[in-house]
Amino acid sequence: MNILIIGDVVGSPGRGILKKALRVLRKQRDVEYTIANVENAAGGFGVTKDVCDEILDAGVDCMTSGNHIWDKKEILGVIDLIPQLLRPLNYPPDQPGRGSHVGKTRSGVKVATLNLSGRVFMHGAMDDPFSLGLREVRRLREETKVIVVDMHGEASSEKTAIGHHLDGLVSAVVGTHTHVPTCDHRVLPKGTAYCTDLGMTGPYDSVIGVEKDAVLRRFLTGMPSRFETAKGDPRFAAAIVDVDPQTGLARSIDRMLLEEEDVQRMATEAT
Ligand SMILES: [Fe+2]
Repeated sequence: MNILIIGDVVGSPGRGILKKALRVLRKQRDVEYTIANVENAAGGFGVTKDVCDEILDAGVDCMTSGNHIWDKKEILGVIDLIPQLLRPLNYPPDQPGRGSHVGKTRSGVKVATLNLSGRVFMHGAMDDPFSLGLREVRRLREETKVIVVDMHGEASSEKTAIGHHLDGLVSAVVGTHTHVPTCDHRVLPKGTAYCTDLGMTGPYDSVIGVEKDAVLRRFLTGMPSRFETAKGDPRFAAAIVDVDPQTGLARSIDRMLLEEEDVQRMATEAT
């Protein structure tokens, strides 16, 4: 059973290539369930209800997030009305929203998604993702063994450690947040698929999604400059994990970083 997990969707360039790639991949790779990190899907900062609706309409089943979840204030009032939109479980419990979700594939298999945040080099009041994550995984396993964890964090060591911590208990642990894909995807010894960071689904002619001249100016002068989302060279960063629905363990993980012409070629081949 193929589960598609999409790295940080950034702005309209990210949403645009997501829609095109999803249309092709769902058919060509027999994708049964799709998860995407959407914390920067609205204009490069935060997410709105309209953007969530657009992404759900494109075929995404569950959306994860991280430190940018509250950038657009309107989401505070509506996150509790969107059960498919998660914020990290280990955020303070008084924050709105939730950290896990259980959905179903087209063939009726339950898939749980768990969103965690790292604490190393991350700001904010986060609880321990290791102990809270394990407790939530044990609770979710009473409902389904097919569990995907989005570990949103900066430090590759912390993300790798949580992969091993949950190895054999979940189907996949994938990292998001850095916007830079890593090529360490593998199935860990006890059967959990792992990748430190899926990378950004968004404009690569940029500095991690932001218009590059403004970022350079800030580095060169130390002066504040207005950050805008870049537009050029949109790419689709994701992984497909083949999961055994009986055991919940992964058979393989296949990582991809598709350019627009790759998606176009795949669409042509499919017709
Ligand atoms: Fe982030």
